[in-house]
Amino acid sequence: MDWHTNAIFYELYLRAFNDGNGDGHGDFTGLRQRLDYLQWLGVDCIWLLPINQSPLKDDGYDVSSYYGIHPTYGQLEDFMMTLDEVHRRGMKLIVDIVMNHTSDQHPWFQESRRAKDSPLRDFYVWTDDTDKYKEARIIFLDTERSNWAYSASTGQYYWHRFYSSQPDLNYDNPKVQEEMIRAVRFWLDLGVDGFRLDAVPYLFEREGTNNENLPETHEFLKKVRKLVDDEYPGRMLLAEANQWPQDLMPYFGAGDELHMCFHFPIMPRLYMALAKGDRTPVRGIWANTPEIPENCQWATFLRNHDELTLEMVTEEDRQFMWEYYAPDHRARLNLGIRRRLAPLMGNDRRKIELMHSLLFTMPGAPVLYYGDEIGMGDDLNLPDRNGVRTPMQWADEPHAGFSNTQSDALYAPVIRDPIYGFQNLNVANQQADSGSLLHRIREMIHLRKEMSFLAQGRLTWLEDTPLSSLSYWRNSPEGRLLCLHNLADEPLTISVPECELLTDVFAPDEKFVAEVSLPPYGYRWLRY
Ligand code: NOJ
Repeated sequence: MDWHTNAIFYELYLRAFNDGNGDGHGDFTGLRQRLDYLQWLGVDCIWLLPINQSPLKDDGYDVSSYYGIHPTYGQLEDFMMTLDEVHRRGMKLIVDIVMNHTSDQHPWFQESRRAKDSPLRDFYVWTDDTDKYKEARIIFLDTERSNWAYSASTGQYYWHRFYSSQPDLNYDNPKVQEEMIRAVRFWLDLGVDGFRLDAVPYLFEREGTNNENLPETHEFLKKVRKLVDDEYPGRMLLAEANQWPQDLMPYFGAGDELHMCFHFPIMPRLYMALAKGDRTPVRGIWANTPEIPENCQWATFLRNHDELTLEMVTEEDRQFMWEYYAPDHRARLNLGIRRRLAPLMGNDRRKIELMHSLLFTMPGAPVLYYGDEIGMGDDLNLPDRNGVRTPMQWADEPHAGFSNTQSDALYAPVIRDPIYGFQNLNVANQQADSGSLLHRIREMIHLRKEMSFLAQGRLTWLEDTPLSSLSYWRNSPEGRLLCLHNLADEPLTISVPECELLTDVFAPDEKFVAEVSLPPYGYRWLRY
């Protein structure tokens, strides 16, 4: 089994994680100090949000140099030291690479925008005619009115799928492709274990299409994969492509394109099933998820650094989700909800655990979002997605133990409210309490790692149970697990006449014969 197939991923925003030099911004020195924690938790692979130089208008997804490290994060040597420390602990590290666009501060764009006859004009997509590519949707609906932005120096418009400060690169220009491959090679040469490829569906543009998932895009990605296979075997490519499962299949190719894709559509359906006490949406989406090549894997997640996206649900389901999970309109952003897991769950420990149980027992490699393992909250007073990117809460110490800066110059305020404030809700407290959420999540992680068949084994639904039961077998020649989940606020008894004796993995003394009881929002992992 390739390492990525059964890895536990941990997504972290370096700026938010730990400040090692006291300037109020997280950095590589800070991350190194916390690697023991991540190892203790059971993390196999750290995924870092973009670390490149950037004016940070989109937290690093606006790259101004593919080679430099953002200065508040440290120098390249700091990065190398961190990578060594990660590897010394037997862990891996992948970084975000932003291929689709750059910052408007990138020297390429500065030069390109200067004049129509600039040698770099064709690095970006320019037009006089803003009716071009009309079928492409706008992604940042709350901020952008068009995918074209005007540039006064030449009186033309440039193409951008995200903020207008993020002009799209022109992949029809072979030089752009070469430059991106050069950047990929640079980081692989330094030793990163792979990339999360940001926004890959949008690399190419073609009139008469929605400019997503084009054959040319797949051709380019296959080139990148070939480079990895030929020169950097064992490294991994993970696509951020917010698409329906059938549109994601080409990203796996015949096992010769990307190793992993996030499974976006399953995510909101876990929330929907819980809200409705009805498993239907989850079973439906797995039924519509084709088999993937054997050397490929889904990356599954509950939350990440963006809004909880509702792009891959129907209009009706989106309304339901908004009304149920974001009655406060401040929590709505674009087509999503800008909240963390714990507040979405009403800070109900049972539901937080239940969602994690689903994450760890369904097919795919789980990706955790920093802070969710302790049930961190969010800050709706911060704009955009910043509310879910607040400093990690390490301890009841000044600045939550995140920074020892003498000033108040934190990149973002720490959370202080009575429920989610760092004074009570922090890693130190939960490490000291064996009954804490953190300990439970850690236990799940370790069990999941022991049962490696959960990564790729078959998923077989347990039939003839009430709709509030989301229950299934995971089977493979290496092992079997029966996973029971109660999505409802009342006790549930599930009969499993096929099995004589069932043992609860979390509490081996608890045994069941043919019938299993679950408390409200309860779950059990059972060996049989
Ligand atoms: C997807 C990233 O997850 C998001 O944070 C970013 O704003 C866009 N891509 C643009 O790079």
